Amino acid sequence: MTITKKVLMLPGDGIGPEVMRQVQRVMDWMAKKRDINFDVTEGLIGGASIDAHNNPLTDETLADAMAADAVLLGAVGGPKWDNIPFDIKPERGLLKIRKEMGLFANLRPALVFDALVGASTLKEDVVKGLNIMILRELTGGIYFGQPRGVEERDGVRFGFNTLVYSEPEIERIARVAFDMAMKRNKRMCSVDKANVLESTVLWREVVERVAKEFPEVELSHMYVDNASMQLVRNPKQFDVMVTTNMFGDILSDCAAMLTGSLGMLPSASLGAADETGARKALYEPVHGSAPDIAGQDLANPLATLLSFAMMLRYSFDMGDDATMIETAVQNVLKGGLRTADIMQPGMAKVSTTVMGEAVINELNKLV
Ligand code: IPM
Ligand code: MG
Repeated sequence: MTITKKVLMLPGDGIGPEVMRQVQRVMDWMAKKRDINFDVTEGLIGGASIDAHNNPLTDETLADAMAADAVLLGAVGGPKWDNIPFDIKPERGLLKIRKEMGLFANLRPALVFDALVGASTLKEDVVKGLNIMILRELTGGIYFGQPRGVEERDGVRFGFNTLVYSEPEIERIARVAFDMAMKRNKRMCSVDKANVLESTVLWREVVERVAKEFPEVELSHMYVDNASMQLVRNPKQFDVMVTTNMFGDILSDCAAMLTGSLGMLPSASLGAADETGARKALYEPVHGSAPDIAGQDLANPLATLLSFAMMLRYSFDMGDDATMIETAVQNVLKGGLRTADIMQPGMAKVSTTVMGEAVINELNKLV
């Protein structure tokens, strides 16, 4: 039976629209070859929305996001919007959609494809076969804590933010992380700064408590400074890592660079499951809007295609189709095609469009 899923596409800025077009092609392919149809709506976010509405995320777009089965986002931001007021910067749109949709669990896999092992700045044996899942808390912590701001007190200006976590906030992200660990290798490292920050003393305590429900998972704790060092020293010691919003922001960039190819990494942001088990969800590549190469058909569409694969797996329970797309991507890389960002000697440099086409050709072979 063919199912229909409502997907909101938010291409955003810079290379967002062009990488998104390659996903649209895969969706069209799936509608022809697989038991699924996509009812696609497009919306504006970030700079594109600022240009049209003077607002990085309008209520209409937010309502569309809430009504969709899943949201796929390209990228936001660019130098054009660097000097506008903080409150309407493109990034505010991204933070708002995460918060309003309740997307507290951010899954950031860092996976080294065999064909790209040479792209890492680290030695091959350190990263070959690397497969880490970083679970970043996404709607709390210092990104959203109150009070915040810049104000003058007795003639001196102060900038301040608040790092705050409630027990329920910690508990729910811990649960997602343990569930993930159970589906993977049953190892999980929780990253905090419990030697200095009370909010993460509570973090550690709550993670310990939730751990009792998952006796099979081997849990460890690490301070964030050590974790960043260990990620570079010996990343394969990690499987699932769970951490706060800001530590996750930093560690996930670090983990991304282990793979040597930011242009390859997808992410998923999930909300709480409702009675039917469905979750609000948004999928996006980890890379930014890359304004310097936008509109030139140079960008790597693979991270966005892999984000779409995550959508199939986590929102639509279509793990086989997700695996098929991931395999297609691997095969294209094995075949020697590279976009500029992952170009290596002896390989064939191709455009965004040709890369998308190559994935479809592989899908045709795999189906
Ligand atoms: C990310 C980005 C965002 C974040 C920015 C663009 C607001 O760095 O998704 O990691 O800090 O969360
Ligand atoms: Mg970041």
